[in-house]
Amino acid sequence: MIQVRRIGYTTLETPDVDRQVGYYTEILGLSLVGHDNGRAFLATKQGQQALVLERGDAARCTRIGFQVAPDTDFKDVAKSLANEGIKSELRNSSTPGTGTVLTFEDPKGTILEIFAEEKMLPVEQQLYGIGPLKLGHVAFHVRDIQTVVGFYQRLLGFRVSDWRENFFVFMRCGPDHHTVNFVEHGDVVKLHHMAFEVKDWGEILRACDYLGGKNIHLIWGPGRHIIGHNIFIYHRNSDRLIIECYTGLDQMKDEALGYFEPRPWHQDQPQRPKVWPADTLGSYWGGRPPIGFGD
Ligand SMILES: [Fe+2]
Repeated sequence: MIQVRRIGYTTLETPDVDRQVGYYTEILGLSLVGHDNGRAFLATKQGQQALVLERGDAARCTRIGFQVAPDTDFKDVAKSLANEGIKSELRNSSTPGTGTVLTFEDPKGTILEIFAEEKMLPVEQQLYGIGPLKLGHVAFHVRDIQTVVGFYQRLLGFRVSDWRENFFVFMRCGPDHHTVNFVEHGDVVKLHHMAFEVKDWGEILRACDYLGGKNIHLIWGPGRHIIGHNIFIYHRNSDRLIIECYTGLDQMKDEALGYFEPRPWHQDQPQRPKVWPADTLGSYWGGRPPIGFGD
């Protein structure tokens, strides 16, 4: 089995790569670290690759890069995937931040790129943009949620952090409460939002003012979620994709103890993974999501 340690990057298709580079550098505050055959590579200011942009008919997420431990034997992993009937391919990465990648498809049709070696990339210091610490999680609408959850548990080593009834799941691969979440939403399969972590509440405030100054309106927040308990703001980028900036996400620092680090705003003490009722509010404070947010 693969034991994913963290999310590294996503690959997004976009009708207008240059416009998206403009958004991700000037607004979100990532650094452009390279161009190759019409693709653009972006990293955090710390130099971690976070995003690949390439030309496509519509805005969509086609690939996700997940990092595994340096001593992972990819040949062994490929064999165990083959035993499950999953075809994988070992190849040199085409992105500057990673070395060899093992690629295969997950049940919702996203190509996963598993990598062990990561190169920090030289970035030019910038003084503008939100400047997140990392790509924190991706949220997808999926068709058969149980199949997707089983795949991420069994083959990628993810654990379930929380369910909202049986249609919305949050999964972790490290201390962060969630690195992926999936919602069953009719027949729709798509990326719902992408979330970037910022350092603290002060950075959330700075992001609110920065977005306001650029005439980009928040669509929800600031607020604090109940499930995951992160402080959040959401806005849409120039491709209409929802981007979340967050801080203060619940942390499972010790898997053996099995609870999230106690916080005053938790509903249970200690707060353990559980199934929350369907009518659990979207936020502890900060209002309800706008109509159509979940679509
Ligand atoms: Fe989120």
